[in-house]
Amino acid sequence: MFTVSAGLALLLGAAPLLAHAQSSGNVSSCPGYTLDGLQETASGLLAQLSLAGKPCNAFGTDIANLTLAVTYETPDRLRVLIADAAGAQFMLPEAYFPRPTNETSTEDASDLVFNYDAQPFAFWVSRRSTGDVLFDTRLVSLPAAPTTALDGTPLDSFAFVFEDQYLQLTSSLPRDANVYGLGEVIATSGFRRDIAENGTLQTWWARDVTDPTNENIYGAHPVYLEHRVDTNGTASAAHAVFLSSAAGADVVLTTPAGANASLVQYRMLGGVLDFYFFAGPTPVAAVAQYGALVGTPAWVPYWAFGFHLCRWGYLDVNETREQVANMRAAGVPLEVMWNDIDMYHARRDFTTDPTSFPIDEMRTFIEELAANGQHYIPIVDAAIGHTANDTDNYFPFISGIEKNVFVTNPDNTTYIGQVWPGYTVFPDWFAPNTEGWWGEAITNWSDSGIEFSGLWLDMNEASSFCVGSCGTTGNLSDTTTPVSLPGDPGNLVTDYPEGYNSAIWGPSGNITINGTLTFGNDTVVASSAGFAVPDDELAASTQFGKRADTLRNLNVPPYTIHNGFGDLSVHTIATNATHANGFVELDVHNLFGYMEERTTHLALLKNQPDRRPFLISRSTFPSTGHWSGHWLGDNFSKWAYLRYSIQGVLQFQLYQIPMVGADTCGFIGNTDEELCNRWMSLSAFVPFYRNHNQRGALSQEPYRWDSVAEATRAAIAVRYALLPYWYTLFANASTLATPPVRALFWNFPDEAELLGVDLQFMIGDNVLVTPVTAPNVSNVDGIFPGRGNVVWRDWYTHEIVNATAGTNTTLDAPLGHIPVHIRDGAALLLHIQPGYTTNETRAAPYALLLALDGTGAAFGNAYIDDGVSNPGVDGTIANRSLTFTVGNGTLSVRGAGEFKVLQPVARVTVLGVSTPPTNVSENVTYEADLGRVNITGLALDLNEDTTLSWA
Ligand code: GLC
Repeated sequence: MFTVSAGLALLLGAAPLLAHAQSSGNVSSCPGYTLDGLQETASGLLAQLSLAGKPCNAFGTDIANLTLAVTYETPDRLRVLIADAAGAQFMLPEAYFPRPTNETSTEDASDLVFNYDAQPFAFWVSRRSTGDVLFDTRLVSLPAAPTTALDGTPLDSFAFVFEDQYLQLTSSLPRDANVYGLGEVIATSGFRRDIAENGTLQTWWARDVTDPTNENIYGAHPVYLEHRVDTNGTASAAHAVFLSSAAGADVVLTTPAGANASLVQYRMLGGVLDFYFFAGPTPVAAVAQYGALVGTPAWVPYWAFGFHLCRWGYLDVNETREQVANMRAAGVPLEVMWNDIDMYHARRDFTTDPTSFPIDEMRTFIEELAANGQHYIPIVDAAIGHTANDTDNYFPFISGIEKNVFVTNPDNTTYIGQVWPGYTVFPDWFAPNTEGWWGEAITNWSDSGIEFSGLWLDMNEASSFCVGSCGTTGNLSDTTTPVSLPGDPGNLVTDYPEGYNSAIWGPSGNITINGTLTFGNDTVVASSAGFAVPDDELAASTQFGKRADTLRNLNVPPYTIHNGFGDLSVHTIATNATHANGFVELDVHNLFGYMEERTTHLALLKNQPDRRPFLISRSTFPSTGHWSGHWLGDNFSKWAYLRYSIQGVLQFQLYQIPMVGADTCGFIGNTDEELCNRWMSLSAFVPFYRNHNQRGALSQEPYRWDSVAEATRAAIAVRYALLPYWYTLFANASTLATPPVRALFWNFPDEAELLGVDLQFMIGDNVLVTPVTAPNVSNVDGIFPGRGNVVWRDWYTHEIVNATAGTNTTLDAPLGHIPVHIRDGAALLLHIQPGYTTNETRAAPYALLLALDGTGAAFGNAYIDDGVSNPGVDGTIANRSLTFTVGNGTLSVRGAGEFKVLQPVARVTVLGVSTPPTNVSENVTYEADLGRVNITGLALDLNEDTTLSWA
């Protein structure tokens, strides 16, 4: 774990300016507020809140006058904003966040009702249809004096506190409430957050760290979904709560000892309380309502659902090219080839190394990929290398200085941190010239020969390896001082997955799955990379102590959030750094990645307005999904992290960043054949499918082991067959904000046994995935939702699963096989013949799989377009939307939209047919044991409405 040296603590803890209030640290004496001046408005109410007694100045200065604004924005969205009357606290700048405009509704139309007590001020939000209280700051059922401590932090008080540097608000929740979200996190509790007595203390402070559990990592998402199951199974309901704030914060989930209720407590370092409540009542509806507020996810190009291959450590263009050839030779589909920072000259953005990645060869290589229907994605790091001297002609730096686009110190000098290139500067995404400058850098790079199809945005928390503006007085000619990289001498990668037996398997694998090893240890303790802060860098951090903001302590806010690195300025830009508009890093830290994603997306659109930008980024914030996808960061080549990847994918569905996936086979440490085999199978059912590896670790491309190549080919065949289904789910996400991947209870909200299931997941409504997540096994337990009322059929054999209702069923899952099941009543449009690329796959005809329910019915829909166009000014893309309705032995296809679908449906497979078709022929066969009708030799034109009968 990274520790802050005593010297740094002293430096950061420098005596506060006189203007700072003396912090008492005692929240329990905070007086609360009184509501008056209530005014009803057409869509809600306005009121004033005034401090109800002597300021407690617990962690800053109490703000005497607040404004309360309650707005019924839509029938299922309620906003409760409590802000300082003076408007001095930081709020998310509207200009940068996609939000619906002018939406107003009325209390009468809303299922959510805002209620309040005037003195002491408290509010609660209830659900009109059930009377259920969803959020309640009156703290009913909680003890007066809390005794619980989390992570050594006592819950001092439930008081409502609104200070310049500390906001605290507590809501009681039903005991043991089912809460999801509030990450980004890798929670050992799983997707459902721990709310027991020693529950959860989650911090929101974007952080570059090799995936620890239960700590703050790359992104901040102050949104949760709460689901309440009604034991009668008739009134189960979910709602969501979003705190629209970028403040560094802690959030606590706990059940105080002896209490009959649980609670959520927010502790923020500033800003305002801007809450949105979403009525649901289904989990999918609640998630979609959140998406309608923060912006629907970006359209994803068709090719981006192909398989992506990456690693840190493809040392030259030839090695990169070899991977493409090796994948082809092994018959493992490769859609997108990536390069990491190895490609850079002097590790600088927007360059290529003249020796190892000569630009002409790169251009040829990328053209070769394009000619084969493949794509290329390079990395873009957040920080820009600082030039060493006047003859160092690095244009992105030089032009950026000219255009004032970099983050500054409080005295207006350029802030200089340190990342891979040595000393670096950081784009200030709020500065007026940044978008143009960044767009120009990207265009120049692309025009020079790096004709990418998408970009990989990394290190954007933002990461900096020194503390403070370490280069400001440093030796800038030293910019190429190498940071030791994994794989370098003295920094070798020697770790293997749990249960790996190097004596038997050696580094090249060749495992057999018949040993006796069992998987018992899933508590992998992740150590962070351990970037030491040399003393001379500390000494160079002279900018501390000069503050843009004399009223607040920007360096060391009085309340200490539980940032995994301790002090907020460690391994990132210092909190006193300054942005345009007078913004300070303390307030906008959590927005760095978001602002980069937005700026990059807009820059790409400007270049090619008709083409969907494709971005994958590390640090995220609410609304990121509108601009970018996400990968789950620097995971470990461990079985535990294969398992954690599923909760990661589920979390990001809730966060409305559905294009997400993990570094398949694991990033840090060596993988092994079995782990890589299972992980390649699993990730084929996750939206973003990329294998990425750390420098110096054992190679892990899927062709390296025969069994992994075979498992990958098999899983990709299913993935590519399902692409029309995936694509439709993502079109729905981009238009309706419904999440493509779902926790089981999202689709079956009345089944309490599903609330904690996070090693299985569903794709849309109809496909259930039950991956193997442990070594040395050849079967897997999985639950089949529906409590016996749903028929699940095996994807591969079409056999009905003999599932036990409401509990686990054991499935065969030999190495290379991932169980996938189809829900009855589904009508799925598929590609009939998965090809090597998505282009080839799309060029073949379609097939339809109709899994009839007990009444002989099935329904499905499909959205088809050209796969690359971006919505025009009217917000639409030329498309064809189809519905497939089955009943009485007849399929009826109905369509709308002008997009011309070139491929016909060549085959229809109907499952669940009990009476043989009347016209059995060469092209219409029937298998009684499976109840399967196979209709082949068809050419159903999807541009016309059609019917097809087999009864
Ligand atoms: C960061 C990224 C990782 C990348 C490495 C080198 O650790 O998270 O994916 O390979 O930097 O660029």
